[in-house]
Amino acid sequence: MQNVAISGTGVFTPEESISNAELVEAFNAFARRKNSENADAIARGEVEPIPDSDEGFIVKASGIESRHVLNKSGVLDPERMFPLLPERSDDELSVMAEMALKAASIALEKAGRTPADIDAVICAASNHERAYPAIAIEVQQALGINGFAFDMNVACSSATFGIQAAADMIRCGSARAILMVNPEICSAHLEWRDRDCHFIFGDVCTAVVLERADLATAPGRYEIVSTRCLTQFSNNIRNNNGFLRRTREGHMQDRRDMQFRQEGRKVFKQVVPIVAELIQTHLADEKLSADDLSRLWLHQANKGMNDLIGARVLGRTPANGEQPNILQDYANTSSAGSIIAFSKYSDDLQPGDYGVICSFGAGYSAGSVIVRKAA
Ligand code: COA
Repeated sequence: MQNVAISGTGVFTPEESISNAELVEAFNAFARRKNSENADAIARGEVEPIPDSDEGFIVKASGIESRHVLNKSGVLDPERMFPLLPERSDDELSVMAEMALKAASIALEKAGRTPADIDAVICAASNHERAYPAIAIEVQQALGINGFAFDMNVACSSATFGIQAAADMIRCGSARAILMVNPEICSAHLEWRDRDCHFIFGDVCTAVVLERADLATAPGRYEIVSTRCLTQFSNNIRNNNGFLRRTREGHMQDRRDMQFRQEGRKVFKQVVPIVAELIQTHLADEKLSADDLSRLWLHQANKGMNDLIGARVLGRTPANGEQPNILQDYANTSSAGSIIAFSKYSDDLQPGDYGVICSFGAGYSAGSVIVRKAA
């Protein structure tokens, strides 16, 4: 069995971003417009008026201050409230593949690798632009990688599950090195007209190069000590969009359940203990304790959740920088969040230092990856 290293990561951040102030202004313009359209029904008590959204609430409830998006104008247009991404022909590169290539080129350079060194591509994301052919195979072809590629989806845990899948294949000898990409176009599965969640998501793409530890040479690489994945069915985060939609009556209607929806409070309460226990038992099984950890790179959905998970795992309030958050600038970027945190806040650790990359989300699903900075 081979040991496995994470030898490079990359983040592609879309240029456009939306501040909470801009978001709330657009939402409130939409709400006013809808309320005036429905004025009579509201007066008769048949329709509830849409209340205003509020910047203060968003920061307090989530810690999110801004989010990057592929298209800002469509989201902020009160008549549209949805990104505008022009359709591409079958001969053009897909949007997800384009994002993936940008993140991949950074990760490959950091790893000191070229496509010739890579044997497989995994596209692990919470939504895929089409059913098939796989986005990963498109990325494979665009980079000129030999071997194989496939897409996988474990919602917000896609990246950690992807790391486990890649690491297991490298350990067993199916591949020397694997490129895993996480293009997340969350703006296209978020209902921007829903006040309860319109502030939650942003767009980004991350990439990770994993390879046999004995072949890895990149300075600053991390060895994977072990991985642990867990799932437990829940309807509290759900998106009903799927290929059976057109077989159902009423499929032409604008159905709210075809976008992301959640019971945010329940998710918060139920997922925190699941994740804290996953990390604790994973550490114990590796004969490590929380005191051995130099850093936690957690899923980036909610600052309050991360504060609680960090406190439970470490048994104390995490010190500044011990558990870096990026959600204030990126919002929830689904599977990419913990990888952005890892990519941006892992250079300063010393050889031998331990850390945990951890994601959690719909399914429920949670993944824990214990890493050690290589000598
Ligand atoms: N502006 C102003 N007020 C708002 C609002 C907004 N944009 N959205 C909701 N509110 C109001 C609600 O109407 C509610 O009012 P009420 O008390 O009069 O009924 C109040 O604020 C509290 O709403 P609630 O939804 O309970 O807020 P919360 O404190 O639970 O925060 C989340 C909401 C979504 C930020 C939080 O539950 C969360 O992040 N949960 C975890 C989600 C998660 O990680 N999901 C994973 C996704 S992959």
